[in-house]
Amino acid sequence: MKNYRNDFPILEHKTMLSSCSQSAMSKQVLSSLEDYQKSLVESGMDWERWMEITNLAKAKFAALINCNPSEVAILGSVSDCISSILHALPLSGKEVVTTEMDFPCIGQSILAQQKRQNFNVKFIPSEDNIIPIDHYKTYVTEDTAITCIPHVSFYNGFKQDLKAISKIVHAKGSLLFVDAYQSAGSVSIDVKRDNIDILVAGMQKYLLGIPGIAFMYVKKELAESLEPSTIGWFGQKDIFSFQFSRLEYGESAQRFNTGTPPVINGYVANAALDYILSIGMDTIEERLITLSNFTVQEALNRGLQLHSPISIENKGPSTAIYCGNSSLMEQLLRDKGFILSARKDVIRLAPHIYNNEDDIIRALDTIKFLLPKTLT
Ligand SMILES: Cc1ncc(COP(=O)(O)O)c(C=O)c1O
Repeated sequence: MKNYRNDFPILEHKTMLSSCSQSAMSKQVLSSLEDYQKSLVESGMDWERWMEITNLAKAKFAALINCNPSEVAILGSVSDCISSILHALPLSGKEVVTTEMDFPCIGQSILAQQKRQNFNVKFIPSEDNIIPIDHYKTYVTEDTAITCIPHVSFYNGFKQDLKAISKIVHAKGSLLFVDAYQSAGSVSIDVKRDNIDILVAGMQKYLLGIPGIAFMYVKKELAESLEPSTIGWFGQKDIFSFQFSRLEYGESAQRFNTGTPPVINGYVANAALDYILSIGMDTIEERLITLSNFTVQEALNRGLQLHSPISIENKGPSTAIYCGNSSLMEQLLRDKGFILSARKDVIRLAPHIYNNEDDIIRALDTIKFLLPKTLT
């Protein structure tokens, strides 16, 4: 297997295990930032190239999740995506189902939308840091308009079976919205195979990019049945017709585009997706399964308390270790040259293709050493 470490300059002086928050930047991705800067310095204005690069990024995201590029909209964040979808759906008199393991922006957007449309909200509870699949059979009903779930949990890497959940929620007549921010770039995704209606992801985590851009897949037939109300001129059928008194939704998911896309983020997304696709999702996934398994075993060997599933079948690459005061743990690790990300009461160990077993051993040993300071 190729050694990818040399592509990531930061690894010369830091141990980065924070892909659940911000991954390391490859030389290829860093040079895309320079490309954009060069276009500003040399051409001044180059809309053709800027749009070409942004659309290339979209096409690569579409290839990553197996859909047509016209089924992908470009927005600024996952929060933007969920708000846009909820605004577009007729929800009055229905119910919206989500889970206790979703990232907070999902529940928050649903509650904000509930102030505008009169619907019932249900939060599926977690049990021992996972969501038993049978909960979907209980909580999703014939009244459910949309069920919003994370593919992989931000808190502990718990991974859900999208195909099985899709079958359950569709049998009740509900749409399925998947937040794939923690899985895209680490777990293979196929929206057609798993029959997903809407899937969203940003670039900052396992996709090896930066914040400020998110992609939203909306199945063509669904997109064309919706009339979004958070819109912009880049979501129109003919963007450059400049018809101020006409609203004509763009084809498929293009109607969810808003204003001028984030071009610099598009440059980075294009380079980062190129990097991921050139390695291949199967290769990345296989390596991350090995590292995930290794992390779990080595953490257990050291007597560390896991808040992640132990079985790799329902776990992404991120492993959550209970440490009490997790922001103190994050800071103490940073002081020792380890970049890891804290959430609630856990520190998350989230490797990518550029990490090796030695990174994990050293991080676990250091966490164990620091625990007496953070558990008190
Ligand atoms: C699963 C998941 N969804 C959404 C978000 C937030 O995304 P955004 O800041 O793009 O709204 C995060 C950020 O950590 C996340 O992990």
